[in-house]
Amino acid sequence: MSHRVYLADRPQHFDVAEGETLLAAGLRHGFALPFGCQSGGCGSCRVRLVSGAIDYPFPPPALSQAERDAGYILMCLARATSDLTIALHQPPQIDSLRPRQLPVRAAKKEWLAHDVLGLTLKLPKGDGFQYLPGQYIDLLLDDGRRRSFSVANRPNGETLELHVRVTPNGRFANWAANEMPERAILRLEGPLGAFYLREDSSRPIVMVAGGTGIAPIHAMLDELLSGGLPRSVHLFWGVRGERDLYLDARLRGWAAAHPQFRYTPVLSDADAAWRGARGLVHEAVLAAYPVLSGHEAYLSGPPVMVRAGKEAFVRAGLDADHLYYDSFDYAFETWPQLG
Ligand SMILES: Cc1cc2nc3c(=O)[nH]c(=O)nc-3n(C[C@H](O)[C@H](O)[C@H](O)COP(=O)(O)OP(=O)(O)OC[C@H]3O[C@@H](n4cnc5c(N)ncnc54)[C@H](O)[C@@H]3O)c2cc1C
Ligand code: FES
Repeated sequence: MSHRVYLADRPQHFDVAEGETLLAAGLRHGFALPFGCQSGGCGSCRVRLVSGAIDYPFPPPALSQAERDAGYILMCLARATSDLTIALHQPPQIDSLRPRQLPVRAAKKEWLAHDVLGLTLKLPKGDGFQYLPGQYIDLLLDDGRRRSFSVANRPNGETLELHVRVTPNGRFANWAANEMPERAILRLEGPLGAFYLREDSSRPIVMVAGGTGIAPIHAMLDELLSGGLPRSVHLFWGVRGERDLYLDARLRGWAAAHPQFRYTPVLSDADAAWRGARGLVHEAVLAAYPVLSGHEAYLSGPPVMVRAGKEAFVRAGLDADHLYYDSFDYAFETWPQLG
């Protein structure tokens, strides 16, 4: 038996077949719905269930209990068991940003840190590829596998900058660092994900990045600062040691130039000379903001950091409606389900 899905914030609906996920049905009907891994791991397809009932094949891994209690569901896993209303909370421009595939040329690579490669990709001339600062793309590898990377620059119509962490066995990252020919042509799909600035809010923002999770946040900050920074932003960047703070000088420069912007680097493995914050990055946030009600939070980076942060922040009073995150799951976890 099919069911009908109504959108709370638009005068539109679509039908979902028996056993079909909400995401598959919405995409089949041509809706620009947010998604990433399609396997319950990343949280990109999180929406609020306003009315009706769903079930899951297994508990939704990306959602904390607090998010489930607040009515959030994952469209990539949820099946309708009645007619439903869901609230997408998407800006109107997202409708014109449907993911598509395109070729790009590797224009530049440079080491940003000892294990982070900066990769600049040139977009085809006149292609008009657009995205919102904070979104990511998937690079499509030769054997059909894909690797997700956030775009680190705000849109300029010409290039996409990626911050690629090079791990010992990382297949794409090591190929890009050591074997990729100059001016190589790569294929990507994007823009993807629901991690972008909500500009309809005036709440003070807390941003939390772990490692290369600074990439999408850098794009957002660049966009916010270019608009004169309409509200206060406090960025916490967690890394292991000082050598990992590869954007430190730029972020300190921004903080010096913009009184509304604060920047706190947090080292989990600092040496004795370090004078700044130490420990886990979400704990440094809570030390500065024991009560987070009234704030808006953006988190990106390793899954363990995102999970710990979002649970702790909601416990500290953050409204789950104002919590946005991009969990940098490794491809090997998500690939088998992508098929
Ligand atoms: C939405 C999204 C956005 C992302 N954005 C970025 C980004 O901007 N920059 C970035 O560097 N990564 C990002 N990632 C993570 C990245 O897609 C994965 O780490 C990917 O697996 C890297 O591909 P690879 O071929 O280099 O390594 P793989 O061949 O996939 O991995 C090989 C081995 O290395 C390990 N490994 C891979 N990545 C990491 C890591 N980061 N930390 C620890 N161990 C690891 C894996 O466990 C695996 O055993 C993002 C992921 C998602 C889902
Ligand atoms: S697309 Fe649903 S959790 Fe990743």
